Parts: sequence; structure tokens; C-alpha cells
Amino acid sequence: MSAISFKNLTKQYGSLTALQSINLDIEEGEFFGLLGPNGAGKTTLISILAGLCKPTSGFATLMGFDVQAQFREARRRLGIVPQELVFDPFFTVRETLEFQSGYFGIKHNADWIDEILENLGLTDKANKNMRALSGGMKRRVLVAQALVHRPPVIVLDEPTAGVDVELRQSLWQFISRLNQQGHTIVLTTHYLEEAEQLCHRIAMMKQGQIVALDTTKNLLARVSHDDQRKADLEDVFMQIMAGAHHE
Ligand SMILES: Nc1ncnc2c1ncn2[C@@H]1O[C@H](COP(=O)(O)OP(=O)(O)O)[C@@H](O)[C@H]1O
Ligand SMILES: [Mg+2]
Repeated sequence: MSAISFKNLTKQYGSLTALQSINLDIEEGEFFGLLGPNGAGKTTLISILAGLCKPTSGFATLMGFDVQAQFREARRRLGIVPQELVFDPFFTVRETLEFQSGYFGIKHNADWIDEILENLGLTDKANKNMRALSGGMKRRVLVAQALVHRPPVIVLDEPTAGVDVELRQSLWQFISRLNQQGHTIVLTTHYLEEAEQLCHRIAMMKQGQIVALDTTKNLLARVSHDDQRKADLEDVFMQIMAGAHHE
């Protein structure tokens, strides 16, 4: 069974085609990268997965559950770190996480919340109001919030945008550990060196379509380069985005 499966998925916003017949399977335990320029459709794809946005046609499943017809079953298996910072400014960090646990019907979650806070360097901020946190700290809380219900699938939509190097390092250590423990991870990022280091397999999107899908290793081997320097993911990305051919 795939952790995530998109079948002939299309999304129209009026006359704009945000997603065009997306077919993609992500297996359990993968560390998968979803790359593409702004407007490629990454966030739309993730919103459909979270049941926040309805596809125009086609369907998506999460751990075998249809994200629309079996919304609750699918949603509780998914942890989402959204691209936009949204939170209640009057809650403390701990209250935010307790509230999120409650949303999933989890009552005694203090040990796990403590562990998440520790791993994200938030322990000394636990009793601070959300509005008193810096942008980077708020971003950490969004990550923590995605993990409170121990979802088997974790999707991070540009989690390191505007985040300092220190947090990026500790975040990736934590996420990599979760992946080693069997969690499926899907990451969108504009930091291609991060994707190159972390992701086993990558889909590149352009204008609502998948234009490349392969292991990171195979993608890197594709690129022709004239100089001494080894090709990196940025070279691959530039070449694929420049080419018109679709796969
Ligand atoms: N709610 C919406 N209404 C209309 N157009 C939208 C909406 N959300 C996204 N779009 C459009 O859909 C396309 C894909 O956007 P998005 O999924 O956010 O791309 P990405 O996350 O890859 O930057 C863009 O052209 C964007 O302007
Ligand atoms: Mg986006």
C-alpha cells in the first residue's frame, strides 16, 4: 500500500489549471521531495491531501484512505506543516499543542509533547504566548503541531523558509530520525541542497504537471556538465525547468 497516492488529479481555479492529471505514488517510509517554482501547484497538492481543498477530478488516498470520502481516517494519519504561519496569538506554546491533541481526541499527551518541545528547542518557550515568539520560533511550533498525534505521514510545505541555520540543522536531524523510525516524509523546499541531502526520491513540478520523477541519485546522473564540478540538484532543476519535455 502506498502512503500517498494521487490518481488523475486535476484542480481548476476558474480558468487556471493549478494541477493537471497528477499521477503519483509515494511509498511508506520514503523521504520524498516535491520541488518546483512558485505557482507550480505544490501547496494545492498538499491542500488536497489534507482535505482543505477539493480536487476538480481524480482522487487522492492517504495510507489507503480516500482523503474526501474517508476524511477523518485519512486526516489523523497526516501531519502537515503549512507554508503560512497561522496560530492563535493568545495561546501559549503548550496550550497550542494540547489543543491540537484534543482536536485528534488524544487526552494524555504530555510526555510526547515534552519530547517534541525538547527536540525542537522549544522547552523554555513552552509557557510563552504565541504572539511573543519570533518568526523562527513560531515555525518550530507549526512543526510541533504537525507531530502531536504521531502521524505516520508528515508533509512539510517549505518549513525552512526564513529559518536560521541552527534550526534547519536541528529540524532535519529530528525529521530524519522520524523517517528512520518509519515515518513517511514529504518535503517541499526552495533550498535544493537540502532536498539533495535529505530526499531519496524527487518529483519536480512545473505549471501543475510533474515534469521529472526519479531517485535523487538518478536525477543527478542525468545532467550533462562540461566543467570539473560535479552536477548538483540545482543544475538538474535548472535544466529540467528550461526543457519543455514532460514525462
Ligand atoms: N485559492 C486559490 N484561488 C485561485 N488560484 C489559486 C488559489 N490557490 C492557488 N492558486 C493558484 O494555483 C497555482 C498553484 O499555486 P500553489 O499550489 O500555491 O503553488 P506552489 O505551492 O507550488 O507555489 C498558482 O497559479 C496560484 O496562483
Ligand atoms: Mg506553496
